[in-house]
Amino acid sequence: MTRTLLIDTDGGSDDVVALIMALRSSDVRVSAITVVAGNIPVEQATRNVLCAAELCGAQTPVCAGAERPLLRELVTAQWFHGKDGLGDHGYAPASRQADSRHAVDAIIETVLLNPGIEVVTLGPLTNLALAMSREPRIINAIGRCVVMGGAPCCEGNVTPAAEFNIWVDPEAAKIVFRAGLPLEMVGWHLCRGSAALNQEDISKILALGTPVAEFVIHSNSLAADAYHAQTGDYGISLPDPVAMAIALQPELCTASSMHYVDVETMSDLTRGMTVVDRLVVAEDERNRGLWEWAWKGQVRTRVCWTLDVTGWKAALYALLHGQDSAHG
Ligand code: BDR
Ligand code: CA
Repeated sequence: MTRTLLIDTDGGSDDVVALIMALRSSDVRVSAITVVAGNIPVEQATRNVLCAAELCGAQTPVCAGAERPLLRELVTAQWFHGKDGLGDHGYAPASRQADSRHAVDAIIETVLLNPGIEVVTLGPLTNLALAMSREPRIINAIGRCVVMGGAPCCEGNVTPAAEFNIWVDPEAAKIVFRAGLPLEMVGWHLCRGSAALNQEDISKILALGTPVAEFVIHSNSLAADAYHAQTGDYGISLPDPVAMAIALQPELCTASSMHYVDVETMSDLTRGMTVVDRLVVAEDERNRGLWEWAWKGQVRTRVCWTLDVTGWKAALYALLHGQDSAHG
């Protein structure tokens, strides 16, 4: 049976690769793509999403949403993804316009119309937090919510403690993590090391010789340089596509466990830190008050710890090649 997906994205160079994967997968129907400010301002992010959808020949509704985090000024990642979010190669705009609906309205409508829908978030959680606050019925209607975000091993890419999507709008993330959604957290650690596309992977994708394959690699050229400058590692690191691969093929996450997870919003040092209660000490008497919201409501998040790296790369290649890896 075809699964229904809603994707919320901030339109950066790895986001568009994740979108391409979902739009080319025959296992899922993407019912809507909602856009949020994050890597780049929301107008540019919407243009990028339309561009990726057009490359895939998809008519999926694209809806622009929140222009800034709930309580804070927007801090973009243009140093990483480029001023246009796609490596500043001057891609032509798509011929199609965005839907006139606001992303928050689109999330509410789409979720209520498709109970059991799977939501994949690839950017700050502003749109989803706004939608849940306005229409709490969507919480029970969402069947699965895969979040690219967080640093459960406490190795952040913005600060030592925090990953970008959570750090940009920690208040929104806190609302989402506390809501009781069936949440799966795909942290930044999963796209590091051997999970980054190496030269051989890149050459193999480019050898496909298609506009989509070329776009996937070239739109990430600046991000590859920035990743090297940031980590010392080479290659194209693709956090959102890794999350999408796990959304499409859950078995690619090879170790996961359920935990209480909360988000830090008060401290400057650890703003946006995803605090994972690995040893279930949240239920201890001494933590009463601090974590009661979680264990009283049994609000747990599935934290993905490890990735089938070969499987993830095979899934990406198969989707770019035109056949789903799930089907060989
Ligand atoms: C996340 O932040 C953005 O730069 C990427 O698109 C990804 O969603 C990684 O920290
Ligand atoms: Ca993103």
